[in-house]
Amino acid sequence: MEVQQHWEGVYTKKAMDQVSWFRPHLETSAALMERSTQGDRRASIIDVGGGASTLVDDLLDLGYRDLTIVDISQAALEAARRRVGAAGESVRWLCADVTQPVFPVRAYDVWHDRAVFHFLTSASDRAAYIRNVATD
Ligand SMILES: C[S@@+](CC[C@H](N)C(=O)[O-])C[C@H]1O[C@@H](n2cnc3c(N)ncnc32)[C@H](O)[C@@H]1O
Repeated sequence: MEVQQHWEGVYTKKAMDQVSWFRPHLETSAALMERSTQGDRRASIIDVGGGASTLVDDLLDLGYRDLTIVDISQAALEAARRRVGAAGESVRWLCADVTQPVFPVRAYDVWHDRAVFHFLTSASDRAAYIRNVATD
């Protein structure tokens, strides 16, 4: 799949902190989550297109355990998974394309998407993503 190859290439050729969207910590996202969950550590959180971002590290440090990280790049997920180590055992890592019906049938307290929808450049892909979110 072309899109997947593109993202695998990005994450295998560049170090995590060399990509333009890298930030050592996603403070704004973490703060918004704290607000949305009202600090309830049992909240279920999904980070769609989480890539290799350190948000999962910070959420684990804060004490959240019901975490799902979705990304089309296995290399990105593996990098994050390796980095968090044993702390990430409770995390569900899902390598999948969000334009396909891939989401587990369940509800989430917080849905996080930083710069994924942005990369869905065709109207049909954006529509498919929204449909999958609403129906699955
Ligand atoms: C700009 S990066 C942002 C990564 C992360 N959210 C962050 O803030 O550091 C976009 C991410 O979306 C993922 N992605 C792009 N298209 C996708 C798709 N169709 N399905 C799932 N993930 C996708 C890429 O692999 C990449 O990790």
